[in-house]
Amino acid sequence: MNVSALLVVIEEYLNLEDDDCLSLPPQAYLDEELYQLEIEKIFRREWLCVGRAEHIPNPGDYFCTKLMDDPIIVVRGNDGEVRALSSICRHRYMPVADGEGQVERFVCPYHSWAYDLTGQLIAAPYMKGSKRFVRDVCQLPSYRCESWAGFLFVNLDENARPLFEKMRVLDQHVVNYRISDQVEIMSYKQRWNGNWKLSAENSMEYYHHVGLHRHTVGGQMPAKLTYVPQPPSDLSFTHERCGMDRSYEQRGHAF
Ligand code: FES
Repeated sequence: MNVSALLVVIEEYLNLEDDDCLSLPPQAYLDEELYQLEIEKIFRREWLCVGRAEHIPNPGDYFCTKLMDDPIIVVRGNDGEVRALSSICRHRYMPVADGEGQVERFVCPYHSWAYDLTGQLIAAPYMKGSKRFVRDVCQLPSYRCESWAGFLFVNLDENARPLFEKMRVLDQHVVNYRISDQVEIMSYKQRWNGNWKLSAENSMEYYHHVGLHRHTVGGQMPAKLTYVPQPPSDLSFTHERCGMDRSYEQRGHAF
């Protein structure tokens, strides 16, 4: 099946009722052309979460990450704003930062060009002798960066709709969780050797509680209590829910 035929099959899923669905065809997880299309149509256009604002509370605090193949620095400026900058030096493409830390400016390790926290080039040793060098065009490119409930999001598409518009419906559902007030107490990184949709689908269903999590969260949230309320009007998030089985307390199941 080529990608055109695959897209026709996938489009049919949009009109199915929940109880009329099957898994996507295997090629949807394997086709390289479809994956490139997903990068172009989804990941280079959508708001992608890169971390929590509390990771970089002070001016000069930064961390580096990658969006698709673009290395970026997420940094808090002297004005308190968080920005997402390309970490690639405009001179000969050396990364000007990696990891995380606190700086007053980013100094490229190769020839010591220096950029302020907004990405403006503020020093370029001995470049005055060049007739072609124009300092103002040598700033680090910046990307759209906005926050929601303490989460920082970056969008590679400068024409993207504002983040708050995307989150408006979800806002109503999480208002009681005080997410903005929460702080991270642990984290871990995990690389899944699989197509991204498998990760998304795993997070959309409680069915696997009957097997994988039967000795842990399956005790409180058994798969049999899954229900599917009305989907959100803008289809911006998954809407499957699971009821709580309070009897786990009597059964001595640790919360
Ligand atoms: Fe950065 Fe030359 S590559 S200063």
